[in-house]
Amino acid sequence: MKRFDNRVAFVTGGASGIGLGMAIAFADAGMRVVIADLRQDHIDTASAAFARRGRSDRLHAIRVDVTDRDALAAAADEAERVFGPVHVLVNNAGVGIQGPFEGISYHDWDFGLAVNLGGVINGLQTFLPRMRAHGEGGHVINTASLAALVPMPAQFAIYATAKAAVVALSETLREELPKHGIGVSVLCPGPVSTNIHELVKNRPPHHRAGEAYGEFERAGGNRLEFPGQLEPEAVAAMVLEALRDERFWVITHGEWRDMAIARHREVVRSMPDHMDPELMEMIHPAPSTGNPGKD
Ligand code: NAI
Repeated sequence: MKRFDNRVAFVTGGASGIGLGMAIAFADAGMRVVIADLRQDHIDTASAAFARRGRSDRLHAIRVDVTDRDALAAAADEAERVFGPVHVLVNNAGVGIQGPFEGISYHDWDFGLAVNLGGVINGLQTFLPRMRAHGEGGHVINTASLAALVPMPAQFAIYATAKAAVVALSETLREELPKHGIGVSVLCPGPVSTNIHELVKNRPPHHRAGEAYGEFERAGGNRLEFPGQLEPEAVAAMVLEALRDERFWVITHGEWRDMAIARHREVVRSMPDHMDPELMEMIHPAPSTGNPGKD
């Protein structure tokens, strides 16, 4: 995207942390921004932040749960009524779900996947037909995590499962969306200083915590302190740059690079050397001559 002025962005989970950072950066760049968020306290804080910057006219906030498909469609209608067609969709709402693998419950799985993967799916299902229809082009940014790119401990089973699926889903869109003038990026943050540990406040009663997770969450186990935590503003600046340059991968930290290399080497090394030439012809226009991962 080369032009940001008068473009409209819709940012889920946009009232706190990374989402709010992006919302502010987009507004500063000239966009009008709809933030769609579950929590009124976060929406109030975000509205105050926009007011302090003299940007209230570029903000519209909607309280919505991304797992509620009807409510998300209504939010899309409202966004269009207020600001016009949406050009930039940011599927960012997420919860930092984690806990002991033993004792993990269906409620934990259902909740974590509903928000962290289902929310992205619902965002795409709601907005892509509208974005294709208006024909003005745009961009989709899906927030995944570095947890999708390197092996994670079982404590993060639900989180990593959802985020890996968000990466895979985003990759499938790389060929598809540009046909409609829509770019796509996947944001994989490492540790960022946000409110992601406030999981208990984001968990609705119908997704009550299983025993193991409940105990863990009540004891504040979701709060992880990392050295090298970035501020949301720094992440937002990277996203804006990726939007400008039409870059797919937005990865905030290099510290996990060796783990990513080791993982991908192992994958490539595990692939048999024998390759059926006919199959190769079918999947590659020019057959590969070697296996770079075996070096
Ligand atoms: P945050 O908690 O500060 O912001 C997330 C926002 O999403 C909150 O305002 C929350 O109210 C909202 N939200 C939660 N459930 C929702 C729902 N069902 N419907 C609508 N809104 C909902 O957390 P943060 O860190 O800014 O998280 C943003 C994204 O970044 C998430 O997808 C998270 O998984 C991802 N991420 C965060 C990292 C970090 O270190 N903070 C690292 C890697 C990924």
